[in-house]
Amino acid sequence: MERLQKVIASSGITSRRKAEDLIKNGKVKVNGEIITELGTKVSDKDKIEVNNILIAKEEKEYYLLNKPRGVVSTTSDDKGRKTVVDLIPTKARIYPVGRLDYDTTGALLLTNDGEFANILMHPKNEIDKVYMAKLEGIIKVDAINKLKEGVIINDIEVKASRVKLKKVNKNTNTCLVQITIHEGKNHQVKNMFESVGYPVIKLKREKEGIFSLENLNAGEYRKLTRKEIAQVYNLKKK
Ligand code: URA
Repeated sequence: MERLQKVIASSGITSRRKAEDLIKNGKVKVNGEIITELGTKVSDKDKIEVNNILIAKEEKEYYLLNKPRGVVSTTSDDKGRKTVVDLIPTKARIYPVGRLDYDTTGALLLTNDGEFANILMHPKNEIDKVYMAKLEGIIKVDAINKLKEGVIINDIEVKASRVKLKKVNKNTNTCLVQITIHEGKNHQVKNMFESVGYPVIKLKREKEGIFSLENLNAGEYRKLTRKEIAQVYNLKKK
């Protein structure tokens, strides 16, 4: 289910602001009935008319991108930097499901399906987000345990569901650690490691839910299959 004004705007006929005005002014019908309430939620099955003309709904599109470094995870950037949406040639109004930092690489989903995005982002669905982090220093067992028990970041407790030390390089005094989390707060992984004394040098998301990078190189993308989309819908917890 999506908000009526969003569905009208994504049909391309007008902006979201103007869609809100149309709703308030009684110009929008859902299944033949005038709706003036802005928060109204509609589904794909609802028939939406604006000024008595049926709107064409945008086809849903779903992509998995291996985000390269140096690209922002937004649909536009006020500093003119390249965005993840620029990497996928489509007319659909897709947007990234959550964010990866400018310097983080790896698995990022993009879609114009709000419900699909919500399922992946809502912490109650406990979708695994698996990252490989290169750390300054060689992490100790007590720091790993603290990450699993929970650390406080910006007054909120966050924890890792799994942490595994994968590789140690004594010469450079660095290590590779795989960490799995369920939330997607801003800079969460970097802040978590920093809070236990190990700054992140490099970060890559290896997997989000059922989606891993497989053989996608940085900057490459693929469409999701119908089966994968259905699998995500099945992950929704009541
Ligand atoms: N956590 C971070 O710190 N950065 C990311 O890009 C993703 C998760």
